[in-house]
Amino acid sequence: FQVKAPVNEPVKSYLPDSPEKAALKAELARQLANPVEIPLIIGGKEVRTEHKANIICPHNHNQVLGQYYIAGEKELLMAIEAAEAARAEWENMPWEHRATIFLKAADLLTGKYRAKLSASCMLGQSKNTFQSEIDVICELADFLRFNIYFTQEIYKQQPNNSDGVWNRVEYRALDGFVAAITPFNFAAIGGNLCTAPAMCGNTVLWKPSSTAVLANYYFMQILLEAGLPAGVINFVPCRGVDFGKVVVPHPKMAGFHFTGSTGVFNDIWKQVSQNIDNYVTYPRLVGETGGKDFIFAHESADVEALTCNIVLGAFEYQGQKCSAASRAYIPESLWPEVKTRLETEISKLKMGDVCDFTNLVNAVIDKKSFQNIKNYIDYVKESPDAEIIMGGDCDDSVGYFVEPTVIVAKTPTFKTMVEEIFGPVMTIYVYPNDKLDETLTACDTATSYALTGAVFAQDRAAIIKIAKALDHAAGNFYINDKPTGAVVGQQPFGGSRSSGTNDKAGSAINLYRWMNQRSIKETL
Ligand code: SER
Repeated sequence: FQVKAPVNEPVKSYLPDSPEKAALKAELARQLANPVEIPLIIGGKEVRTEHKANIICPHNHNQVLGQYYIAGEKELLMAIEAAEAARAEWENMPWEHRATIFLKAADLLTGKYRAKLSASCMLGQSKNTFQSEIDVICELADFLRFNIYFTQEIYKQQPNNSDGVWNRVEYRALDGFVAAITPFNFAAIGGNLCTAPAMCGNTVLWKPSSTAVLANYYFMQILLEAGLPAGVINFVPCRGVDFGKVVVPHPKMAGFHFTGSTGVFNDIWKQVSQNIDNYVTYPRLVGETGGKDFIFAHESADVEALTCNIVLGAFEYQGQKCSAASRAYIPESLWPEVKTRLETEISKLKMGDVCDFTNLVNAVIDKKSFQNIKNYIDYVKESPDAEIIMGGDCDDSVGYFVEPTVIVAKTPTFKTMVEEIFGPVMTIYVYPNDKLDETLTACDTATSYALTGAVFAQDRAAIIKIAKALDHAAGNFYINDKPTGAVVGQQPFGGSRSSGTNDKAGSAINLYRWMNQRSIKETL
């Protein structure tokens, strides 16, 4: 059994007469007409509780896609028992057998269930076809295939022997279960956060985001169809407060795989520290959190490339990627042309329903997010220190729509230059050409985050200088490209500082975190 180095799942075109387009249209209509009921999955069994919530379309909040059940303390304890009960058999199952399950799941996802998964992500998370395709299909399949390959390569690594001594390392699972809390913005991240630890022999409690339950549940069904044994991954949508009460302090909690806000991840660390005497083993805490991702332009930048990438980096998926560009530093010599080009490009963006395939911009995820973004925009409207030069309208009468918005700030420390907004809002600071060094310092120190960033320049010496000045400001750094769209196996993803533990998603570094080595010396 030898897994070949994978290739990235090709992105389908969805051209007007393509079979994938026809299948997707039919599936969108089917899901809109047939609301679903989503149970918890604990120990391989469907579980229903007294608490349910609606799943709605962000682009039309009267459209109910279904309902999901919410786990309470009792069900979370059941899920821990199920995970613990499944652990020994799963951990001891030969790795090749575990691997086949995830490889089969990737094939089901990219084959038989492509339209179903893509439609659920489009409707549930308000993604256009391309954004859905690169998330729940390509990136998720890539996570499965590459992580299996990387796991195989790690397992091959063995220490040296000396005369009369046989040394070896056993790659065991952690001594307890792994908890995964996953975000709304990428269904692929949800799938990765629960499967990466499971590939390494761990059993998992998976708390999906309440606004990504639909696509995450369909992926959970694929895992079961692919042969995932009962109890290995337990699907438990629930309130964060219950997860915090029951799961985080549990003595057998051995690892945490998290993507979400910096505040919640900090709370988990604090809670773990308060319970540190109770754990069987030190829990591994792996998280990717917030960001305030930047584009830094040098006076030598290609203005066309710069402006196109500002638009895509800031407004694709409504700026709700953790990697989305949300602040830019533009030299004043380039600004007039950048501004004109931005106006032209942004005026072409169509916003609306995901089922109208010509809309590049769709809705933001929910009411809370809409209100938070609107509050920032309203703040700018009142401020003497910044000006909205494009967009700025917010309308939640049908769905949660926020126009792509460009703000020009008078200082590099203006509120929207330094705080994470998580919406289609780009703030630009225009700097004097002779203030490059000061502006680089401002970029580096503006926030405590360090997730993604990009430099635009054609002057090679400037690229080197800027990359050096910002070397700790981004875990993923792009040269003459937008700071979004990391591809598994090509740009391992993650940041440091307040953006996370930088245990790159979809890489060997991440997988090591779910392994618990036993080093054995045998004297012959
Ligand atoms: N991996 C995504 C990107 O690079 C963000 O999570 O855009």
